Amino acid sequence: MSSLLEVKNLKKYFNTPRGTLHAVDDVTFAIEEGETLGVVGESGCGKSTLGRVILHLLDSTDGQILFNGEDITNVNAAKMSELRKKMQIIFQDPFASLNPRLTIYQTIREPMEIAGGMSKQQMDERVYEMMDTVGLARRLVNTYPHELDGGRRQRVGIARALVMNPKFIVCDEPVSALDVSIQAQILNLMQDIQEASGLTYIFITHDLSVVKYISNNILVMYLGQMVEKAESDTLFAAPLHPYTKALLSAVPIPDVHHEKKRVELKGELTSPINPPDGCRFASRCPYAKERCFKENPVPETIEGNHMVACHYFREINQM
Ligand SMILES: Nc1ncnc2c1ncn2[C@@H]1O[C@H](COP(=O)(O)OP(=O)(O)O)[C@@H](O)[C@H]1O
Ligand SMILES: [Mg+2]
Repeated sequence: MSSLLEVKNLKKYFNTPRGTLHAVDDVTFAIEEGETLGVVGESGCGKSTLGRVILHLLDSTDGQILFNGEDITNVNAAKMSELRKKMQIIFQDPFASLNPRLTIYQTIREPMEIAGGMSKQQMDERVYEMMDTVGLARRLVNTYPHELDGGRRQRVGIARALVMNPKFIVCDEPVSALDVSIQAQILNLMQDIQEASGLTYIFITHDLSVVKYISNNILVMYLGQMVEKAESDTLFAAPLHPYTKALLSAVPIPDVHHEKKRVELKGELTSPINPPDGCRFASRCPYAKERCFKENPVPETIEGNHMVACHYFREINQM
């Protein structure tokens, strides 16, 4: 059985006046149907670009994308409109991503209109069904996005993403713009929907604590590259890469008796434009040696599917 999504050596470079910006640089992973891959890393590390390239909202520079075993790296317009139904995106800021001139009814109905083939009555029924699924009161059907609070707006975004019954959704920081109290509601909703329908998610966030419970696996990115990938429990219990350790040390632990030393990252951030040959994290890494500035570490897989890209991870972790 093949995975639902396979991404192989994916690259996305942007040409800028200052040189080539390596937004996504050789990223490889697979996601099984019904599972969630969390993608984490600081702002600017290429998370959104990765999601957009997979969905063909941006062209890839190099690499391969397989969906259900089928190579979809290069597709024509007809294939693309078929894929649009199966692959969807939920954005961070529903206020910016929803059309302010469309009512909730029109917003949720629009993907069905574009796809065609459904009667008005079928579309109406589906709109109400989706509103029920995402917990939006039916009386809100003729309101506009600005009349709703952030949580309800994101429910509209989710309903719109789900309306064509997709198999796969890229969730790009879907709760980052919401109040903490609302975040849990939306995360629970997304998990309930996944359980009910077997959806597969890529869940992008800069906040590791958000992905801990909802991800089967987590991919940590740094300046376009994958630095570590592991099962969620493993990553939180025994991170191997110095960058993952630093990210985790910044996640608050609920237990007050548990004292944790926060790893401060010092040093200059390497530029993603014409990046140097060495490890991109070397300039901020507390363990960096000469070799790290010369040679980019090749990702190494240990123990099943735990992947790490660091020359000295064995030494650092006393393995
Ligand atoms: N259209 C674009 N043109 C040029 N550079 C871009 C473009 N989109 C994103 N970038 C750059 O690519 C890098 C990754 O951006 P992005 O994927 O948005 O990161 P993240 O989502 O992790 O914050 C950043 O350096 C960003 O400035
Ligand atoms: Mg982003």
